[in-house]
Amino acid sequence: MPLSVTLSDGDASAFEGSMLVIALNEKAELSDSVTSLDAAMGGSLRRSVDLRDFRGARDEVLHLTGPSGGARRVVVVGMGSSEDRPGSLRRAAAIAARQAAKLGADQIGWHGGVLSETEVEAITVGLMAGAWNYLDLKTPPPEDERRLPLVSAIIFAADSPDARRGLASGEAIAAGQALARTLAMMPGNLCTPEFLASTGTAIADRHGMAITVLGRTEMEAEGMGALLCVAQGTPQDPKLIAIEYKGGSPGEKPITLVGKGLCFDSGGISIKPAQSMEDMKFDMCGAAAVLGAMESIGRLKLRVNVVGLIGSTTNMPSGTAVNPGDVVRSHLGKYIEIINTDAEGRLVLADVLSYARRFDPAVVIDAATLTGAVVIALGHTATGVFSRDEGLIAEVIAAGKRAGEPGWSLPLWDEYRDLIKSEVADIKNSGGRAAGAVTAAMFLKEFTDSYPWVHLDIAGTAYTESDLGAIPKGPTGVPTATFIEFVRGRSS
Ligand code: BES
Ligand code: MN
Ligand code: ZN
Repeated sequence: MPLSVTLSDGDASAFEGSMLVIALNEKAELSDSVTSLDAAMGGSLRRSVDLRDFRGARDEVLHLTGPSGGARRVVVVGMGSSEDRPGSLRRAAAIAARQAAKLGADQIGWHGGVLSETEVEAITVGLMAGAWNYLDLKTPPPEDERRLPLVSAIIFAADSPDARRGLASGEAIAAGQALARTLAMMPGNLCTPEFLASTGTAIADRHGMAITVLGRTEMEAEGMGALLCVAQGTPQDPKLIAIEYKGGSPGEKPITLVGKGLCFDSGGISIKPAQSMEDMKFDMCGAAAVLGAMESIGRLKLRVNVVGLIGSTTNMPSGTAVNPGDVVRSHLGKYIEIINTDAEGRLVLADVLSYARRFDPAVVIDAATLTGAVVIALGHTATGVFSRDEGLIAEVIAAGKRAGEPGWSLPLWDEYRDLIKSEVADIKNSGGRAAGAVTAAMFLKEFTDSYPWVHLDIAGTAYTESDLGAIPKGPTGVPTATFIEFVRGRSS
């Protein structure tokens, strides 16, 4: 059940729920209303601040006993520097919601004061993101050991149309992000290409979007030899999913979001080592972000045309699987030599990117957990951003910054093209270890000549192997919010 977030212009000090949250930046200045609340708590917050026990550092958490006649407990969360206030609020809200879930606090209040639309949105997104979990496959503990789940949050802020708009957009963004994370978290035997397609259909139905799903037979008719060679090792039906949202004027070219949807990537014949192979269920995080963004865009009713495109299959070794040395003919007509069957994402995307031409896109943004090499280059902090269009790079990075999803650009220069020259075909699917993230992007570039295009390599950012404070181990939702911010930035 998603967290229900509401606004109240009542007095936060009188909130009688299980946990009241106060977010303070590194100056740890107490507003008048916090000071009077603190007085009702015997001045314990003031003392903690004066003693420097609490400094307002990012992610810092202080637990206090609530005032009599008010919340059971007060949790003070640090926001660090106040440079990016919406970003700090979003993060603090996620930390607070995670604290609440840990404590079994079912109802939390957010001590807000006067908040802008963007700030209410950020707090809402943060609270809902912090409350996200995936418990479908866990047997609930016995009744007497169960903690109350976090079910509701009240943001105490001056009531205004702005605040209400921020709440609504925050809920819409968080819903898409939560969907993306849930799809990513689902194991590969449940989240199949078929399941992604039915999820796409549900989104399309909910928001009056058109959807087309191609299976193996339709892809054969289309001549999608690159996508199909990845799918030839699996009995599951691969899916190409196209969702069309028409919120803009009829003639307007759509923003096209493309996602890699490998529901499991074993590497195929070039099989991966067993260590952490289970994480390759996350190889559909690009697809999950496209679906999540479409859900949010539908909820936000943005006035813009958007197409969501997903190429989905699994990459398996088998007697029918594609072999190193094989050459396939892609949808665009270019011949590809398969050097490494584990470089399957670019093969799938090659045909999806070629298929994208029929929508006459204004711009195509693809997101893919494409290379281990991008993790070596940028770690788990930034998404790799690749394009020949400097303006587009700046636009995507700015959208990511607003969304709290940092991106950093890497080169896409002709010099790198030599690394993927094939002896026998037009191009080969692996350039070896050097500049692995760049050669993967260079490969994709070969299939994107007819529209402005930017590629996001999210292999390091789509999921985390450790708890990040605001986000637990597992899927992060990246780049769902970047997609949404980009589209929102272009909508009138
Ligand atoms: N899905 C992987 C990339 C990946 C690696 C994602 C680690 C998340 C974490 C991709 O399909 C892959 O296997 N890429 C290969 C390419 C190589 C064979 C040229 C890689 O990065 O090793
Ligand atoms: Mn692979
Ligand atoms: Zn992969």
